Amino acid sequence: MTRKACVIGWPISHSRSPLIHGYWLRHYGIAGSYERIPVPPEELSDFLARLVQRGFAGCNVTLPHKEAAFRAVRIADGATGRLGVVNTVFARDGELWGTSTDGEGFVASLAASLPGWRAKDQTVVILGAGGATRAIVGALVDQGSGRIIIANRTRARAEELRRDFGSSIEPRDWTETSDVLGFADLLINTTSLGMTGQPALEIDLGNLPKSAVVTDIVYTPLETDLLRRARTLGNATIPGLGMLLHQAVRGFELWFGIRPEVTADLYDLIARDIDPGYRR
Ligand code: ATR
Repeated sequence: MTRKACVIGWPISHSRSPLIHGYWLRHYGIAGSYERIPVPPEELSDFLARLVQRGFAGCNVTLPHKEAAFRAVRIADGATGRLGVVNTVFARDGELWGTSTDGEGFVASLAASLPGWRAKDQTVVILGAGGATRAIVGALVDQGSGRIIIANRTRARAEELRRDFGSSIEPRDWTETSDVLGFADLLINTTSLGMTGQPALEIDLGNLPKSAVVTDIVYTPLETDLLRRARTLGNATIPGLGMLLHQAVRGFELWFGIRPEVTADLYDLIARDIDPGYRR
């Protein structure tokens, strides 16, 4: 039987998920398909209600449907329950279930670059407090992280993360960013600053310890200005594309029954799609 999955959003033309899942379908020789389907917000609940009937094993959900899909399906795990969004929907025993794989994608990307890294006893400095931050903080707290300093332009959103995820979270003002970098074992940019078409992330890296690892969830460009500057200073850096690839793993496993591997070949394929001039 041919298994089918898809990604839904509005608009959906920019999604790289078909390229990622298409690569794995070919790589594992699975008779399946993964398509891109534009679904306007007013059609989301009908679309999900008929998903299984139309032969789909599930779907990825992207903007602007992540919250509405959360309300429309059964939630598969407590970690997703805390987030209020799903990015992966799957059918089980005639019902639709949803989960968020962003947090595990982040942690898996980190583990792939830094084998043996543990959040415990570490100070993580996070820039930003949006939806992606919630998923990352949830995954870090579940790992038993040490200290998580969150600097956000709207401080109230960082305070909210402390309420939801506990006292290891330290909210800070955005203006304190350069100061708190001095504590970082790991620095994560979760803001949209530095993304192609968005304003630059203008922070002074002078206080950043040489031993700090720097990562960005932005993957367009593949190497953000933050990562380039950190690399020039001698810091280890982890590009955001790894998180995108690793967050796709569980969906593929749920729909097609094989836990796929994030390989260098897959990385190169998607990196070249983002930047045709990319060289490993
Ligand atoms: P998502 O929920 O997808 O993560 P988001 O809610 O728009 O997206 O979050 C984007 C993050 O980038 C937020 O932390 C946002 O800060 P606010 O909470 O104050 O909005 C941050 N951000 C966006 N533009 C910014 C800017 N010009 N300066 C500082 N932070 C910015």
